[in-house]
Amino acid sequence: MNYPNLFSPIMLGTVEAANRTVMAPINNGLLSVDETWPARTIRYYEERAIGETGLIITGAVRVNGVLAGIPKVGIFNESFIPAHKKLVDRIHEYDTKIFCQLTLNGGKVGKDAPSAIYNPAYPVRPRELTTGEVDGLVQDFIAAAGYAREAGYDGVEVHGGHTYLVGAFMSPSTNRRTDKYGGSFEGRMKFPADILRGIAREHPGFPAGIKFSAYEELPGGIDIPLGIDIAEYLAALDPAYLHVSATSTSLMIKSRYSSVPHMYINRNTLMPLAEKVKERCPDSVVMATGGITVPSEAEEFIFEGKCDMAALGRTVLADAHWARKARFGKTANITPCIRCNVCYYQLWLSEPLKCSMNPYLSHEAEQHLTPSDQPKKVMVVGAGPAGIRCALTASKRGHDVTLYEKNARIGGMVAPGSAPLFKEELRFALEWYETELRESTVNLKLSTEVTPELAESEAPDVLVIAVGGETIVPKIPGIGKPHAVSAIDVLEDISKYPARKAVVIGGGEVGCETACYLADHGAEVTIIESLPHIMAQTQKITLNHMILLLEDRNIEISTGTQVTAITDSGAEVLLPSGKSWGLDADLVVYAVGIKPHGEIVESSGPAMKVRPKTGIIPELSMKAEEVHVIGDCVGVGNILEATAEGERVGRWL
Ligand SMILES: Cc1cc2nc3c(=O)[nH]c(=O)nc-3n(C[C@H](O)[C@H](O)[C@H](O)COP(=O)(O)OP(=O)(O)OC[C@H]3O[C@@H](n4cnc5c(N)ncnc54)[C@H](O)[C@@H]3O)c2cc1C
Ligand SMILES: Cc1cc2nc3c(=O)[nH]c(=O)nc-3n(C[C@H](O)[C@H](O)[C@H](O)COP(=O)(O)O)c2cc1C
Ligand code: SF4
Repeated sequence: MNYPNLFSPIMLGTVEAANRTVMAPINNGLLSVDETWPARTIRYYEERAIGETGLIITGAVRVNGVLAGIPKVGIFNESFIPAHKKLVDRIHEYDTKIFCQLTLNGGKVGKDAPSAIYNPAYPVRPRELTTGEVDGLVQDFIAAAGYAREAGYDGVEVHGGHTYLVGAFMSPSTNRRTDKYGGSFEGRMKFPADILRGIAREHPGFPAGIKFSAYEELPGGIDIPLGIDIAEYLAALDPAYLHVSATSTSLMIKSRYSSVPHMYINRNTLMPLAEKVKERCPDSVVMATGGITVPSEAEEFIFEGKCDMAALGRTVLADAHWARKARFGKTANITPCIRCNVCYYQLWLSEPLKCSMNPYLSHEAEQHLTPSDQPKKVMVVGAGPAGIRCALTASKRGHDVTLYEKNARIGGMVAPGSAPLFKEELRFALEWYETELRESTVNLKLSTEVTPELAESEAPDVLVIAVGGETIVPKIPGIGKPHAVSAIDVLEDISKYPARKAVVIGGGEVGCETACYLADHGAEVTIIESLPHIMAQTQKITLNHMILLLEDRNIEISTGTQVTAITDSGAEVLLPSGKSWGLDADLVVYAVGIKPHGEIVESSGPAMKVRPKTGIIPELSMKAEEVHVIGDCVGVGNILEATAEGERVGRWL
């Protein structure tokens, strides 16, 4: 058997999970009007059960109707039971167990917390819950576990992680109470302990696990030794498992123990915490989470005794069949989660989840492809993510597809984008594209530039133009000098650009990543950004991770500064003070963006308007009756949009 440890059964209290893969709790942003699971969510979980996940832990479900913060699926009276039973019954059609995650948001999202203090975990100063109210909340958790049991769940998970309400009681940073629920380590542990003891007492034999933060990036918060003490204390209460997480995200601060680690941070981010918990609590089932994406690594962690189960969050959003594919040794076919956090940021916008790699996330019922009743000859131009996805989908539907790529390799911008060491996830994406194309009926023609003449001679029924965008060359005096090159040039082949000192023009994502790449190759790097901040259009968490990378490499950043000329000895810049300054550099790299094909008619940041009057797109467009233009060549985006458009057109043909 592949991965024999990962795919061995395990007892969670009184319940046996068929294997050690867990769908980590993921709130998918969908909600019925009655605050239960919509049919779409049931289908979403079902797909992960079809994919042979051993245990599904639902996204957070609230146990109290008043302390809500935001609308959320609830389980706080008997009327909720039938809706939950629908989900449970569906999952039980498969060999998958399902636990309901019980939670209250607390001050992170709502207004109630252990203590009325200002804290970086909270957007505003919350209200302090009275002792009587906390007593009542303990009962709410216990009652909710009872409703969950009646609905047929195999168990519950108490959400004590991420400094939501239960976690906030455990944390010295957020719990400054002097009553029985605070004042000492035991006092801070009383709330979760009373919940776990109460569930065991009132619902004997019904498994209850607990998720908690073994580390908090908060002033005076849980440090690792305290996190391990917390684990030991919880283990003594005999929970079904200890689910080891951390508190970091949704705070505007930097953490190396990120709970939803972006690709800029190493994989298996929280494994050191799980390992320490397992060392201290060898008899507990320890569930690890945080950037676990590779089956062989999950197998090794379990084999080495660092944890007992692998909780996969985004990993099973990108591929619901991760477990099944791993078990059958089809690891190369697993759609990799690139840890871009698009899904996570969707949740913040209160929007249903979307995925860069899986266009059917939140649309699981729509993924079935129907064979075309009129197979066509399809010519796809450009093997970036848009063209590849379109070609794969169209070929699965029975079309005769040829995918043309002018370079000797596939991937489009994902290839240079994957060059920095910390972007390994994009290299996995490239490998996956290669595997999928190799195993498909797509006829891939590399090193073949499609010209209007070639298109005409091939005479396809359908032409899909996915040629990507064009690098913007800034209009700066001296830009034509040999030591002025684009970021793409550097990322494509850094060996051509050995640099002692480099200036990078543009502090967007590409500029910052390229700066790190240059520094990793020995250059002393300065980033010049004309806006007041680097990566101005990037989510704060991603930005914070990037700042760590830049700091680690001693990269200088000058914001509010413009490059006015590229000189033989480097670059001239205009500082915010209005003073001109000369920078010594033997390489000047511009990373000021990509634009769709055509002439720019209006440009104001992302709202760039382009008139594609001339060039390859209008010329190719004349060469077939049915033409589709997709991806960056019409509107510069990212892998999410390119994949979605490729899929849409592939289905349409
Ligand atoms: C450095 C960098 C890093 C990035 N990192 C990320 C990231 O981390 N996450 C993310 O979501 N997005 C990232 N992006 C953006 C993402 O890569 C693009 O949005 C995406 O690749 C666009 O896909 P596409 O298929 O439309 O175009 P492209 O990826 O540009 O692919 C177009 C392809 O068409 C080929 N082509 C062009 N003309 C012809 C022709 N006439 N005949 C044959 N072939 C032709 C090109 O060679 C190219 O391979 C990054 C972009 C860059 C530049
Ligand atoms: C979109 C999204 C929603 C999440 N919702 C929850 C939740 O409801 N409860 C919870 O404990 N963790 C939640 N998490 C955190 C995950 O359970 C998990 O701990 C984290 O994503 C790390 O695992 P991963 O790297 O495999 O994604 C969420 C994460 C994401 C990305
Ligand atoms: S959106 Fe990005 S982070 Fe989220 S599951 Fe998909 S690939 Fe992973």
